[in-house]
Amino acid sequence: MEWTVGSLVKRAAEILRERGSKTPRLDAELLLVHSLGLKSRVELYTNFDRPLSEDEVERYRKLIVRRAKGEPVAYITGNREFFGFEFSVDRGVLIPRPETEFLVEVVFEFLRNKEGLTVVDVGTGSGCIVLTLCKLTGERHKFFGIDISKKALEISEKNREKLGCSKVEFLKGDLLSPIDFSVDVVVSNPPYVSVNDPKLEREVLKFEPAGALFGGRTGLEVIERLVEQSSEKLKRGGLLALEVGIGQSDKVSNLLRSSGFEDIKTYRDLSGIERVVTGVKE
Ligand SMILES: C[S@@+](CC[C@H](N)C(=O)[O-])C[C@H]1O[C@@H](n2cnc3c(N)ncnc32)[C@H](O)[C@@H]1O
Repeated sequence: MEWTVGSLVKRAAEILRERGSKTPRLDAELLLVHSLGLKSRVELYTNFDRPLSEDEVERYRKLIVRRAKGEPVAYITGNREFFGFEFSVDRGVLIPRPETEFLVEVVFEFLRNKEGLTVVDVGTGSGCIVLTLCKLTGERHKFFGIDISKKALEISEKNREKLGCSKVEFLKGDLLSPIDFSVDVVVSNPPYVSVNDPKLEREVLKFEPAGALFGGRTGLEVIERLVEQSSEKLKRGGLLALEVGIGQSDKVSNLLRSSGFEDIKTYRDLSGIERVVTGVKE
């Protein structure tokens, strides 16, 4: 049988749907774009009737098999778009999530009319938060990204080169320990999943790094330490902005209140979930 771009995507999407993908058509399209070396999904539609060679079909089939076994598309293609920028990813880092774009927006609002601030992204992973903030603010501030994982820092360095953000410095260490000066902003999407969380998807557990996910028994253990350290390292009037898990915003707000933060706010994401908690250092 001769496959065309259109018929192959349709068949692959059917297979992925049967295998439980929640976004089978999108997955099938992204993988074919990657496999054929195209720039975007639009090119699939402008080449819909193009016949594919046996080699092209075979290369694509191997990717679909990986996806059908649950491997996330971003790890297969090695890329993920975040805030309109393309980030390299591999299994050493969490795949940037759309809800984290919301955390970036909140911090961007704080930074946008200011200059010369020091911003630290704790648990930087792929560097998606700090590098996006650097791109959005035209390098008007000084940025640091910290991670405890060497593998994550290799990827964040790669992304810094790719995006050309010379003002971002990546440091290895536990939370804010590599910082021995006071800062204006601490932003973090920390590990906040409880090790006992029964709702965590199998796909996430199997493929994404455990160190990026789990915040101890309660899920809040990393956040508790980070709030305490931020309280020490932030200047007066400085901002702490945290992404939190479902149902954690009240506890985290109380933690900020009892650790010397004021003007505590929570922000809902597009699904109505309280996803970001911020506080200003008294
Ligand atoms: C939820 S991921 C967030 C990654 C990235 N910032 C994002 O939003 O996609 C948490 C990150 O924190 C890092 N991490 C975990 N514990 C840490 C610690 N004690 N100190 C510094 N980084 C830590 C993990 O390696 C991981 O990269």
